[in-house]
Amino acid sequence: MSFLSLLTLCLGLLVIQPRPLESLEPITISAIGFGALGIGAYFKEHTYCRFTECCDDRSIPGNINELNASLKRTLFGQHIVAQHVVPALMAHFSKSSNSRKPLVFSFHGQPGTGKNFVAEQIAQALYLEGSKSGYVAKYLGQADFPQAENVGLYKERINHEVRAHLRNCPRSLFIFDEVDKMPSGVFDTLASLVDYNAFADGTDNTKAIFIFLSNTAGSHIADQLGNLMKYGTLREDTRLSDFESLLKKAAYNLDGGLKRTTLIEAHVIDHYIPFLPMEKVHVVQCLEAEFRRWHRQPDKQIIVDILSSSISYDRTHGLFAISGCKTLEKKVAMAIN
Ligand SMILES: *[C@@H]1O[C@H](CO)[C@@H](O)[C@H](O)[C@H]1NC(C)=O
Repeated sequence: MSFLSLLTLCLGLLVIQPRPLESLEPITISAIGFGALGIGAYFKEHTYCRFTECCDDRSIPGNINELNASLKRTLFGQHIVAQHVVPALMAHFSKSSNSRKPLVFSFHGQPGTGKNFVAEQIAQALYLEGSKSGYVAKYLGQADFPQAENVGLYKERINHEVRAHLRNCPRSLFIFDEVDKMPSGVFDTLASLVDYNAFADGTDNTKAIFIFLSNTAGSHIADQLGNLMKYGTLREDTRLSDFESLLKKAAYNLDGGLKRTTLIEAHVIDHYIPFLPMEKVHVVQCLEAEFRRWHRQPDKQIIVDILSSSISYDRTHGLFAISGCKTLEKKVAMAIN
């Protein structure tokens, strides 16, 4: 039905009825009500929301195939991540999804292994406006929650803001970065918001996505991977199950936002994702990708120089680049400009 005919119909209903409104039978009243609602919704969808971000399919395309492709192109050394994150998002986002709680990821790994990079790409693929979308809320451990003695306030703030976001748009994405730098306990109220049937008032939490990023357990992951490789397992053959229980334990026991939190006790975190430490070959891939981003051919000499001057390796295994692919962007930019 076109906008005009809808409008005419509703006006017609109003104009033709000579009786005062209260004498209308309930059915007619609700027809008028729905008509008005319909016009409102129609108007919004076809004018306002074509130009402004709305909580709809245009603004939230959820393009997970694109995410899959871009991770393949740009994320190096993290076979477990793509294997698990993409299908989980796919299932959560599909039209036939009947999820009964939000999708909750906990990303773990050393700095420079790509946690933020992946979270950013998820935002980019799900929302037309990427991480600038009004439906993406990002929190930074140290900056947003600096004082351990203010934990009560922070809990209140998280509780309040998560509710407000969910009411505004159920398909919201929440990214909590530097979780290990947050005071313990900040997430205690969150567990109740991401659990099944969390809201008595009907607010829909089942479409939301939560991602926690922490360096916690980064060194545990490196040790585990190093040992597996020492005894002959290929890096690419390691699996989520090789790391999962280690991550759960570490997240619960090490200092930081997840320490002894009900979030873990309540089993509301769906996926613990390990970001493996980078080896030299992956650092080279990052460098080459950085050149391509500048539309340059990778320069072998510059790569060798950066590798020898700026990359150091872990002491235990001598295998893993300590800061991963962090800061390479600046180094390449400096070298070619
Ligand atoms: C992601 O892409 C790979 C190929 O790069 C493909 O094998 C896989 O099926 C894709 N995953 C999904 C969930 O579409």
